Amino acid sequence: MGKLNGKIRDFSFNGQHIVNLLLLAVIFIAAGYMIYNAGAAADINININMQDGVTIRENSATSAHFIFYAILVLSLAYGVMFVMPIGGADMPVVISLLNSFTGVAAACGGFLYDNPVMLTGGILVGSAGTILTILMCKAMNRSLKNVLIGSFGAKPTAGGGASKEQGNYKEVTISDAAVMMRYASKVMIVPGYGLAVAQAQHVCHELEKLLEEKGVEVNYAIHPVAGRMPGHMNVLLAEADVPYEKLEEMETANAQLPTTDVVLVLGANDVVNPAAKNDPSSPIYGMPILEVELAKMVIVNKRSMKPGYAGIENELFFQPKTSMLFGDAKSVLQQLVAEVKTL
Ligand code: TAP
Repeated sequence: MGKLNGKIRDFSFNGQHIVNLLLLAVIFIAAGYMIYNAGAAADINININMQDGVTIRENSATSAHFIFYAILVLSLAYGVMFVMPIGGADMPVVISLLNSFTGVAAACGGFLYDNPVMLTGGILVGSAGTILTILMCKAMNRSLKNVLIGSFGAKPTAGGGASKEQGNYKEVTISDAAVMMRYASKVMIVPGYGLAVAQAQHVCHELEKLLEEKGVEVNYAIHPVAGRMPGHMNVLLAEADVPYEKLEEMETANAQLPTTDVVLVLGANDVVNPAAKNDPSSPIYGMPILEVELAKMVIVNKRSMKPGYAGIENELFFQPKTSMLFGDAKSVLQQLVAEVKTL
């Protein structure tokens, strides 16, 4: 949760993968010991004479308890150590993987308690989570192995927040932005995490309907990892009753962008960052992005020049065809709706 809301940054130290592997080995050995030795000792002790047997069995039970709690603590430590170095744009894959692990754990519980409902539920969650993990990896153009161990070692942190100046950016007013969209023939809206935070999906749909009524073709470009959860943007827009056929997947949207007049980026940042294509040193290099810079004009709505989740600058904001429209997504959209109504 800390990593998702950006409060905890990526953390790794040299040799962390060795420490992790050792920790995992200790957990397995302790689990094996608990199952075979402590359990076996308790069984054997039942056959010993009553008086002594009770004492020895208590001892075995105590040691089994101790090992059980030690495994619990070590597993918690392992979980934290496993996730800490993974950051930036790789987090969606990890979330999806952890999701699938919950299913596997539930399925194991189903075996243990001989409960077919739990087993079936676990298998469904586990397999759906695994399929989603693979799809996420494809969307990010990363292998699972790279995601999990790629950031080990002395790599600069993805969330370093490098804030090198990239030049000047230009701002646009609400009325100019409204005019640009009202008189365009094709507008593409790119929703991102900021739209979700601002809960601006309903007013966004209102703007889209208004523009459509005035003869503008409006579609949404959905990046597979936009937001903070897999499918976040699809759910958000469905909640606002945006027709499903208006949602363009990344590849289709990218094919349409060169013929788009205005792109309105709403609280999205990493998923439109050209560094993913142009800068091999970028932590998001290789991740497919929405190539909004191919459109004729780009309006970016966010509250400041701060970076997005991956903690990196976005050169898109400094390009000549980009105009910044600062403010909370919901209030900016409300003002845009009011303005477009007058045109
Ligand atoms: P981000 O790159 O995180 O950018 C969101 C932008 O929204 C920020 O730059 C922020 O700028 C702006 N914002 C925040 N609150 C706002 C508000 N109320 N109104 C307007 N703007 C606001 O988001 P993205 O482009 O959707 O990319 C998603 C990122 O999260 C990727 O790096 C992805 O890998 C990662 N991630 C994804 C997932 C999944 S599964 N989708 C899971 C974990 C992490 P200001 O602060 O300047 O407003």
